[in-house]
Amino acid sequence: MASPYEFIETHRERFEDELKSFLRIKSVSADSTCKPAIEEACQFVARKMRSAGLATEIIPTVGNPLVYGESLLAPGQPTILVYGHYDVQPSDPDDKWESPAFEPTVRGGNIYARGATDDKGQMYLHLNAIEAWMKTVGKLPINVKVIIEGEEEVGSSGIGDALSTLKDRLSCDAVVISDSSMYAPDQPAITYGLKGICYFEIYLDGPKRDLHSGTFGGSVKNPINALTEMLAQLVDPDGRVRVPGFYDDVLPLSEAERTSIARLPFSDEEYRSEMGVDDLFGEKGYSTLERRWARPTCDINGIWGGYQGEGAKTVLPAKAGAKFSFRLVPNQEPSKIESALKAYLEEIKPKGISIAIKHHHGAAAVVVPLESPTVRAASRALQKAYGKKPFYIREGGSIPICSSFKEVLGVDSLLLGFGLNDDNTHSPNEKFCLKDYHRGALAIAYLFEELANKGDG
Ligand code: BES
Ligand code: ZN
Repeated sequence: MASPYEFIETHRERFEDELKSFLRIKSVSADSTCKPAIEEACQFVARKMRSAGLATEIIPTVGNPLVYGESLLAPGQPTILVYGHYDVQPSDPDDKWESPAFEPTVRGGNIYARGATDDKGQMYLHLNAIEAWMKTVGKLPINVKVIIEGEEEVGSSGIGDALSTLKDRLSCDAVVISDSSMYAPDQPAITYGLKGICYFEIYLDGPKRDLHSGTFGGSVKNPINALTEMLAQLVDPDGRVRVPGFYDDVLPLSEAERTSIARLPFSDEEYRSEMGVDDLFGEKGYSTLERRWARPTCDINGIWGGYQGEGAKTVLPAKAGAKFSFRLVPNQEPSKIESALKAYLEEIKPKGISIAIKHHHGAAAVVVPLESPTVRAASRALQKAYGKKPFYIREGGSIPICSSFKEVLGVDSLLLGFGLNDDNTHSPNEKFCLKDYHRGALAIAYLFEELANKGDG
């Protein structure tokens, strides 16, 4: 009988074909016209989970449905909860894609499509690993629960709302998530920290209609001028957030952690050149990795107002707006940041303008302890699949439900990412390295065995 590991090797082609079919589904959670595709992606995942041998069901939520599956046939062994998401970010701007975002294309050993790495490919490799065990050994060596959601990219409100109801069902010893990155090609990593997030939209209203900027300019406040004045007061030129109280709860980096981050191989110059900028930017007194992984930030994510068409139009517009977000670090509380921000915006709002603020979503940052049997098992599994010990890293992205898993289920997440920093997540030409798609499945198949292995040192 073949081993699960051989099964993964011999089924590479089918696993790639399945991923391609999954990637063709345009399950963009931010776009309400994609609802049928959301449903299709959900059904697709459920079918795979069933055929992999999990008792599977679709759980409706106030938002997009969850797919839940389980195999609990290993009494006395640990139980893990695999989490992932079947929704993706919008593919915009489509004209910057070399091959269409929802027509998966293989080039140079990578598969290109929206969701390839974030998170369809990374999520699916867990299902491949489960299938490999089920179809060779006949069962898994540990107990596995799987929960796949469809709103991670828009703040996870459906699963967030359902979590306390599902508490008993999802009870486990650890959550396992592949929705992050390795340190570098061929260098696996275990991520022990993610940032939190607080996302806002601001609408400014000025005069009751668009005006001639010559006739009326200088007498009525222009909402775009007001908007840029206000946005400029969110951060200083070095990237330090100016909202009063913003840094109050920030957990400073310990000297030990700063030393361990500084030991990682990293070149500012190479990074600068990869980013295509003539200089790097950010808060003084912190290295690039520290700023990216462990210091809070503010970014404007979109801005609108006035005339965007060809040529020049002398308009004093009636309205303007912007989307912006803060990335948070431990122990900043999203709700406290929200109140501080609202108070500050009211204070700096110019006269003659009214503002409305929408809070899209918020989530706290996470840090997970590295001293645990789960992390040790993961390290051994990565060593077997990659022939290398993992690096221990933090990352700047957010997985909103992670902090709720800790709060509601009382468990830490093992963040085992197989993506790469240049995978173009949320950008045109998103990709996932197919070698890592299969090595990732192999690592997860080893992880099951290592978690079952009682010889943990
Ligand atoms: N996979 C990412 C999170 C991530 C990115 C982790 C990079 C580690 C490194 C996830 O799907 C994501 O993009 N999350 C959003 C959450 C937000 C929309 C609430 C994010 O971070 O922007
Ligand atoms: Zn993701």
